[in-house]
This record gives sequence, structure tokens and C-alpha cells, in this order.
Amino acid sequence: MDGYVIGPLPVELLPQAAALEKVCFSMPWSEELLRRALADPHQLWLGAVAGGRLLGYAGMQTVLDEGYVDNIAVDPAYRRRGVASALLGRMLEQARAAGLAFLTLEVRESNLGAIALYERFGFRRVGRRRGYYEKPREDAILMTVTLGGA
Ligand SMILES: CC(C)(COP(=O)(O)OP(=O)(O)OC[C@H]1O[C@@H](n2cnc3c(N)ncnc32)[C@H](O)[C@@H]1OP(=O)(O)O)[C@@H](O)C(=O)NCCC(=O)NCCS
Repeated sequence: MDGYVIGPLPVELLPQAAALEKVCFSMPWSEELLRRALADPHQLWLGAVAGGRLLGYAGMQTVLDEGYVDNIAVDPAYRRRGVASALLGRMLEQARAAGLAFLTLEVRESNLGAIALYERFGFRRVGRRRGYYEKPREDAILMTVTLGGA
């Protein structure tokens, strides 16, 4: 899909991000939590924006040379048009540029769409956290991509 820009998630779009959290997740982050995350210098938050509308966003935090992807969500009206891929691609670019050794994330075992997306970007299943999620209770699959920077 054309016509949107990927860049740092603008703070003024946080209400839209919080609204998307509610649509996309059963345990949504609040606007306040997102605001604190955005202000954290060890976190990178990207948004896909078209004419002031937030189509999707992605967040990552770093600990030393490790990156941990927290949230990635796309407005249901704009899915399957490459928005998450554009966000994840940019996140990987920036992670490589920052010299991170790898990126890791957790995903619900039943979230086959997200797992397929992550596999496309080279993430591989490396583990499982039993009963990690609530609402409903479910295992997390742990996925990692090595960036080979370090
Ligand atoms: C997962 C999510 C971020 C994908 O966003 P998206 O913008 O639709 O993803 P893309 O268009 O970039 O998809 C790229 C590829 O990923 C895979 N994929 C994405 N969604 C899929 C789905 N629902 N079913 C199967 N494959 C899917 C496909 O291979 C797709 O390529 P294709 O459309 O050419 O077949 C979006 O569905 C979402 O916000 N879901 C709710 C929140 C969530 O589950 N986030 C992940 C938590 S770990």
C-alpha cells in the first residue's frame, strides 16, 4: 500500500495507538504506558501514518546489544497491505544500524498470521513460555532473528 510514511511514532498520535491497542489485544497497553515507553531512550517506536491517521505501529526496547520487540499492531482496516512488513523492515534496519546482535519477541501460539510475518523476516522459533498469556491463557512462542552485527 502506498501513501503512508514510516517514522518515529509521533507523541500526538498516542491516543490513536491506545485505541488500536484495545482493538488488537486482549490485554491492551494504556495511553499512559505507551507515553512512558515512547519517552524511554532505550526504546524505539515507529508509526505508519497517512494524513494524520495512524495505520499501525511497532515498538522495540534494547538491553545492551539485544532488541526485544514489544508491540506490533495494524488497524484491521489496513491489514494484509504490507504495513506491518514496512514497520518490521524499518525496525530491523535500525536494529542492525545500532549494532544489535539479535531481535527477539513473544507471540501467541495461535497467532499464525503474526508467526508467518515474523518467519518472513527471518525470525525462528527458539522456545516456548508456558501459560505466558492471559485472556485467554496460552503459551507464548519465543522467536529470534540473529542480526550478525556483533
Ligand atoms: C499481525 C499483524 C501486525 C500483521 O499486520 P499486516 O499489516 O496485516 O501484515 P502484512 O500485510 O505486512 O503481512 C505480511 C505477511 O505476513 C503474513 N500474514 C500477516 N497477517 C496474516 C494473517 N492474518 N494470516 C496469515 N498470514 C498473515 C503473510 O505472509 C503476509 O503476506 P501476504 O499478505 O502477502 O500473504 C496484524 O494482523 C495485527 O495487528 N494483528 C493484531 C495484533 C497482533 O497480533 N500483533 C502481533 C502480536 S505478537
